[in-house]
Amino acid sequence: MEEQSRPVHHSQTTITELMVPSYANFGGKIHGGILLSLMDKVAYACSSKHAGAYCVTVSVDNVEFLQPVEVGELVSMHASVNYVGRTSLVVGIRVEALNVKTNVIKHTNSSFFTMVAKGDDEKPAVVPKLILETREDVKRFIEAMRVREIKSAMKEQMDDAHSNIEVDQADELLKNERCILKFR
Ligand SMILES: CC(C)(COP(=O)(O)OP(=O)(O)OC[C@H]1O[C@@H](n2cnc3c(N)ncnc32)[C@H](O)[C@@H]1OP(=O)(O)O)[C@@H](O)C(=O)NCCC(=O)NCCS
Repeated sequence: MEEQSRPVHHSQTTITELMVPSYANFGGKIHGGILLSLMDKVAYACSSKHAGAYCVTVSVDNVEFLQPVEVGELVSMHASVNYVGRTSLVVGIRVEALNVKTNVIKHTNSSFFTMVAKGDDEKPAVVPKLILETREDVKRFIEAMRVREIKSAMKEQMDDAHSNIEVDQADELLKNERCILKFR
């Protein structure tokens, strides 16, 4: 049987939502959590369309809110599958906020959600291959592949950093840090 495959455009998804006053924080700007929740929804929609299966969020990269989003703006989340592994998918999400009065669009952030497809048995399920039809599709796939390699190497270093904490050398290690060492 021929292995299933789908082009990038098959699952490209955009969610647009009006930023209502109940989404605002005490400073009058939109809560970061509201944007994260919308990003998670669009990542789910996009990844499950590609996978043809239920997907779960495993990790999120590059969440930086560089510009505040205001009440009354129309926020659009554009999602695209950038990369597929065996059972995982990397979804790139571009977030834009439109001021309807001025027609100015702000690019507030771009983030990457790693999702994993699940089968009916709740185990990770193999996803269709990704058909790359444009130069941009190829660029994004290679970029995500490199990031995956870097993250895997970094994970080993992080595990090491978490397991070898030199508490006995704290005097020396923390001498230039903004902390007061009362533990001896
Ligand atoms: C994600 C999950 C399925 C991984 O399960 P697992 O038994 O470790 O499965 P595997 O080792 O086979 O990994 C499955 C895929 O996930 C990827 N993966 C696992 N941990 C990862 C991580 N921390 N970051 C990125 N990818 C990860 C693996 O690389 C693999 O991808 P591939 O098949 O494309 O190579 C499991 O941890 C899970 O169900 N987590 C809960 C997710 C969830 O409920 N999210 C909602 C928010 S609470």
